[in-house]
Amino acid sequence: MKPDGVRRGLVGQVIARVETKGYSIEALRMLNADRALLERHYAEHIGKAFYEPLVEFMMSGPIVAIIASGNRVIEGFRSLAGVTDPTLAAPGTIRGDLARDQGTKVVQNIVHGSDSPESAAREIEIFFPK
Ligand code: RTP
Ligand code: MG
Repeated sequence: MKPDGVRRGLVGQVIARVETKGYSIEALRMLNADRALLERHYAEHIGKAFYEPLVEFMMSGPIVAIIASGNRVIEGFRSLAGVTDPTLAAPGTIRGDLARDQGTKVVQNIVHGSDSPESAAREIEIFFPK
């Protein structure tokens, strides 16, 4: 969960959607991400126009890192989350129901989700070291 979700008190709602769908929460950690951590996490976006605003946004407050499990959970969570732009995300999805365009430099969309088993493994190492 990104800082906007935590700030707005949506942690419980998001976890409830994941659990209600039938996935299991395996680990959970609230933290303040620093620049070095985010540089690793968002390595694929370095150099893009939204990279710096994204890092600033992600450092703007606590985030909650979660490991969820279940068959096809990566695909399933991305479906629960909805598309990146909350204006276009379908109603019924986390981003479609709980977020909108705030006119900020980078889109604030409540959640991040790993997009492949490889990125999940890499991100788990970053957020749950050892
Ligand atoms: P995420 O990685 O956060 O689950 O989201 P995603 O796959 O839907 O989006 P991605 O393309 O990986 O981008 C990562 C995050 O960067 C911000 N972003 N802003 N044009 C823009 O303003 C823009 N593009 C991307 C969003 O916060 C997005 O979730
Ligand atoms: Mg992504």
